[in-house]
Amino acid sequence: MIKKPLMATVDLHDKPFDETTKIKLTLFESYAQAWIPTFIMAGFSKELHIFDFFAGTGYDKNKSPGSPIRLLEKVIEQADLIFKRRIKIILHFNEFDSEKFEVLKSSCESKMITCENGLKNHVDIKYYNEDFAILFPSLMPLIAKHPSLVYLDQNGIKFISQEYFLELAKTSQTDFMYFLSSSYFVRFGNSPEFKKHIDLNIDDLKKRGYEKIHRNICDHLKESLPPDSSLKLYPFSLRKGVNIHGVIFGAKHHRAVDKFLSIAWKLNPINGDANFDIDNEANLGQIDMFKGQRISKIDSFKKEVRDKILSEEIKTNKELLNFTFEKGHIGKHANECLKEMKKNKEITYNANSPCVTYDSVYKNEKIVHYEKI
Ligand SMILES: C[S@@+](CC[C@H](N)C(=O)[O-])C[C@H]1O[C@@H](n2cnc3c(N)ncnc32)[C@H](O)[C@@H]1O
Repeated sequence: MIKKPLMATVDLHDKPFDETTKIKLTLFESYAQAWIPTFIMAGFSKELHIFDFFAGTGYDKNKSPGSPIRLLEKVIEQADLIFKRRIKIILHFNEFDSEKFEVLKSSCESKMITCENGLKNHVDIKYYNEDFAILFPSLMPLIAKHPSLVYLDQNGIKFISQEYFLELAKTSQTDFMYFLSSSYFVRFGNSPEFKKHIDLNIDDLKKRGYEKIHRNICDHLKESLPPDSSLKLYPFSLRKGVNIHGVIFGAKHHRAVDKFLSIAWKLNPINGDANFDIDNEANLGQIDMFKGQRISKIDSFKKEVRDKILSEEIKTNKELLNFTFEKGHIGKHANECLKEMKKNKEITYNANSPCVTYDSVYKNEKIVHYEKI
């Protein structure tokens, strides 16, 4: 008997991936590309685990690779490093639909045939044909034990519910990416079925703007974290026709945040958190009736940085980098602001550059002090 997914949805694998899906997959694969060598080099563990809980079939109708094949490609790219460091990479691929599951297995096995024989001793693929709701709790101890990268590319929204999300939030070395069909909340969010998964104030969300729904859901998730949680969450909104979907990235380590934000700002150098003009920056020249002249997201961040430096609330590159990450920006934006301030003789610092980078602050522990002139 063929198992069927629980929610009736449009099937992603019956047609070629659209542009929005490809952006989501680029986010997934770019993060894996950064994560794999980082954890190999860090040497925390001889075993790294990657989980793709909603893996699909491996390819779309046009043979364009989906998440499991892209993950395998990123592992194969690191073959030399994997050999040198004698690392074992364990990939966990799950697909609930039995027909798709068979295709997934054969796609991955064919991919593995193309790689060097030696790599097969270092790469283990575990396949599961299970409902995520059952599989996730059984794999949770493994996720918590090892450095893990977890992808949850669900259809819809239901698996963002607290029983899964808060379990991931508790782990110390897990980075994850959650896909959400966020605008479903606008349509169905007040129904008991949706409220069961995540209880949001839908009227408030609507007031804050339909296009910002995914960002606002991410804010809600941040608020639902235990007060002592060091988990950082970042949204990346994806517009597809009239719908707003998105990815939520979660991690505890600054290095992970640095890598994710660099990828996100590369994908969209204007706002860094959407595949569209989420803040209507194309019309910045126009005066807003209520707010007056608006400025860009990057300029508004730089203005905040300047105020905090001049008020001496921020005095070092470490404080500034933490503030930059908290605001979802990259070090480059803060560096530009400080260089400008130095040029305008507002501040000085004891280094050639403001050093608002992960490497300066956390890797080399180089602390730079900013002083008002
Ligand atoms: C959005 S697609 C994933 C696409 C995949 N990441 C790719 O790149 O091709 C979601 C997949 O999850 C499967 N699925 C649906 N409900 C599931 C469940 N409860 N547990 C596990 N998989 C499920 C669907 O059959 C579908 O293939």
